[in-house]
Amino acid sequence: MNYSRVRIETPRLILRPFTPEDADSWFAIMRDPLVMQYWGHGPWLDISQAREAIADDIEAMETGEYLKLAICEKSQAECLGMCIFFHHHYGSQRGAIGYCLAPEAQGRGYMTEALRYFFTFLHQRMSLRRLEADIHPDNLASARVLERLGFQREGLMKERWCVDGVISDSVLFGLLLNKPSWSP
Ligand SMILES: CC(C)(COP(=O)(O)OP(=O)(O)OC[C@H]1O[C@@H](n2cnc3c(N)ncnc32)[C@H](O)[C@@H]1OP(=O)(O)O)[C@@H](O)C(=O)NCCC(=O)NCCS
Repeated sequence: MNYSRVRIETPRLILRPFTPEDADSWFAIMRDPLVMQYWGHGPWLDISQAREAIADDIEAMETGEYLKLAICEKSQAECLGMCIFFHHHYGSQRGAIGYCLAPEAQGRGYMTEALRYFFTFLHQRMSLRRLEADIHPDNLASARVLERLGFQREGLMKERWCVDGVISDSVLFGLLLNKPSWSP
């Protein structure tokens, strides 16, 4: 499936594919140590990492490897964050999600709003049945977003990550899109 034309509108936001013009704003987010505190790799150090990642994203969106959308305010072209759907297991109608927001965009409910519409798209247009997220046990802001959207804690995965030599556990969250715990 080619995802390169996916565009999702919410009351305040536009979710759309990354373009090469996003390199500066995306680098500013991915170089921020606070945003990257619980991420699967350390903060980026050079703008070339943003350019290369966006080139990879454009290709992956065309081949359907994953669906990754930049989050923007309706009135601004600049990217404020992203949400991603990956590890799509077609037979089981499930996959994993990830997301982040620039610090100045946090605390306004943008991620809850973006994910509500993103999940509706995944459920209604891609027939997804189950979504998974694994997060660092100390990432309380992320856990709050997931629980607000109906995700349930399903378990603790011991020593799942090793980032820059630091080993950490991961909490597994799951959401069943066909069950009453999810309502768009
Ligand atoms: C996880 C992350 C996206 C959460 O961001 P956030 O701003 O807390 O989440 P939301 O955009 O949904 O905003 C929710 C907050 O805004 C407040 N808010 C303000 N207006 C709101 C509105 N209209 N609707 C909903 N919430 C609103 C809520 O009260 C809530 O605050 P609270 O959690 O203290 O109660 C952010 O912390 C982040 O990017 N972290 C770094 C990257 C990361 O760790 N990603 C997850 C990896 S698993």
